[in-house]
Amino acid sequence: MKKCLVVMTGIGLLLGAVSANATPEEDRLNLVAYFKNKYPDIKTEDSIYGALAFDPDALSQYKSIMEFPPFLDQLDQGEKLWKAPLKSGKTYANCLPNGGKQIAGNYPLYDAARAKVVTLEDVLNECRKANGEEPYAYGDPKTIGLLGAYMRTLSDGMKMNIKVEGKGALEAYEDGKKTFYSRSGQLNFSCGSCHVDAAGNRLRSEILSPLLGQATHWPVFRGGDTLVTLQKRYEGCHRSTRHEPDKAGSPRYNNLEYFHAYMSNGLEMEAAVYRK
Ligand code: HEC
Repeated sequence: MKKCLVVMTGIGLLLGAVSANATPEEDRLNLVAYFKNKYPDIKTEDSIYGALAFDPDALSQYKSIMEFPPFLDQLDQGEKLWKAPLKSGKTYANCLPNGGKQIAGNYPLYDAARAKVVTLEDVLNECRKANGEEPYAYGDPKTIGLLGAYMRTLSDGMKMNIKVEGKGALEAYEDGKKTFYSRSGQLNFSCGSCHVDAAGNRLRSEILSPLLGQATHWPVFRGGDTLVTLQKRYEGCHRSTRHEPDKAGSPRYNNLEYFHAYMSNGLEMEAAVYRK
């Protein structure tokens, strides 16, 4: 497949390692090949470390921080939320396949009956509603953030396993891909400008992480204690490039997450990690 840049004028899309008419699996394989070609020394499976994969000193610091992470207390709070019975007396584990274990890598998924992408956070909120509770605000670090952080640790070691099957699913995927590669804002950047084209380069004090592997380890604890969910990160990155951000939990961000997560397929998950 093509690894060249395909510029689609008129639509304003710049598709770096990903070409316009490829299937999701071709997109993913192109991306793997693109990074392999650009950074032959970095193993594909190490892309889960994001920017750290480019900086051996920072990676070894990270590994020692992760031996006794500063956010363990917060994970304990998340565990309490996870185990507390809902108004109906049921727990989240009752709502989820396999009691919520080793399933996070299947999300987001496309629900054909409802014709929409469903994230793990959606499933948790739907479980709350079905059991007499108010849904949590998406992206809220104190509630759904902690709950999701603990719940996702139950899938540590699972490989990301997103499926895009059928017309509706493909449309949702394509919509997410379009969001990822759409340029706008004063700087005319897309997500891909930084996380594909410039991945591994420095931007001010930070190395830019590659799209590959970016969806495997959420939420993150920035500075060791500030919980940030994946879609809150989308908001932040959109805002920093003067795009109109969406809100965590919006259909547009759910589609973005669907594409984004598919690109990490086959990579190992680890929930709740330290980030700068
Ligand atoms: C101007 C460059 C720039 C653009 C454009 C940009 N980001 Fe980022 N992004 C960053 C920087 C800098 C970081 C922090 C360093 C890193 O981990 O890459 C970051 C971090 C991230 C992370 C966290 C990686 C991790 O492992 O902690 C994700 C996920 C992410 N960006 C997704 C996106 C998405 C999706 C978009 C488009 C909506 C986007 N970014 C647009 C610069 C950018």
